[in-house]
Amino acid sequence: MRIIVTDSYEEMSTVAARIVAGQLYLKPNSVLGLATGSTPEGMYANLVKVHQSVGLDFSEVISFNLDEYIGLDKENEQSYYYFMHKHLFDHVNIKPENIHIPNGNPENLEEECKKYDKLIEAKGGIDLQVLGIGQNAHIGFNEPDIKFEATTHKVKLDEETIKANARFFEHEEDVPKYAISMGIKTIMLAKKIILLASGKNKAEAIYKAIYGSVRPDAPASILQLHQDVVVIVDKDAASLLPEKIKRFCKINKNQEQPSRIYKFYIIEGCFLLCQL
Ligand code: PGA
Repeated sequence: MRIIVTDSYEEMSTVAARIVAGQLYLKPNSVLGLATGSTPEGMYANLVKVHQSVGLDFSEVISFNLDEYIGLDKENEQSYYYFMHKHLFDHVNIKPENIHIPNGNPENLEEECKKYDKLIEAKGGIDLQVLGIGQNAHIGFNEPDIKFEATTHKVKLDEETIKANARFFEHEEDVPKYAISMGIKTIMLAKKIILLASGKNKAEAIYKAIYGSVRPDAPASILQLHQDVVVIVDKDAASLLPEKIKRFCKINKNQEQPSRIYKFYIIEGCFLLCQL
């Protein structure tokens, strides 16, 4: 697991966008696993900027979103279908037929879940998965549980998640109680994962994800077992991490000095390809 601590939300978003852009330069037909929520909004804004300024190409990209609320129509402004179109898909040249978001109103939910996993597999699996993290350390909508749910499944949302997401709705009662989410196995099968977090309210979840024991009541902790995860956190979300780690992982902004972080070349590599 590699950890990058940034000074701000904006810097976190820029670093994440550079990694995604780098992925698309290296493999234009990448299969991307995408996340919603307020955390990746800045990353999407940066990607749109790179598309519009230097033509970052999405024409061969295939996307799979992590999750969707059950019971909201696509037109509902709080649906993740709506979110993704508003923040990314409507502004880049991704083909509509290459966009996949779980259907939150399926005739047969079990079939929908199976179909989603089969489709991901048929497209060759996810090359780069973008993750946010809940205050309860959920990833996707994999809530703390007594076991890790492997595949795409129906989830009963935690009270904590409903409260956290109520800020997007007029009333807390309007937040759907159920969702459909990619499972932990599906996420863990991604070839690369980036996990983003910003703000003090994510500090405990980030600590658990990186340092806690691997257990299903802190779902993000499973990422410690993945071979290629980059955690990109602003300093508030990193505030509970040991000082030693923070110093080691901070981005060295002085371009004259060689960076002490071995992962820095990824960012620099992408930077050379696309100036955000
Ligand atoms: P947020 O949600 O980005 O809106 O904080 C993240 C999550 O719940 O996974």
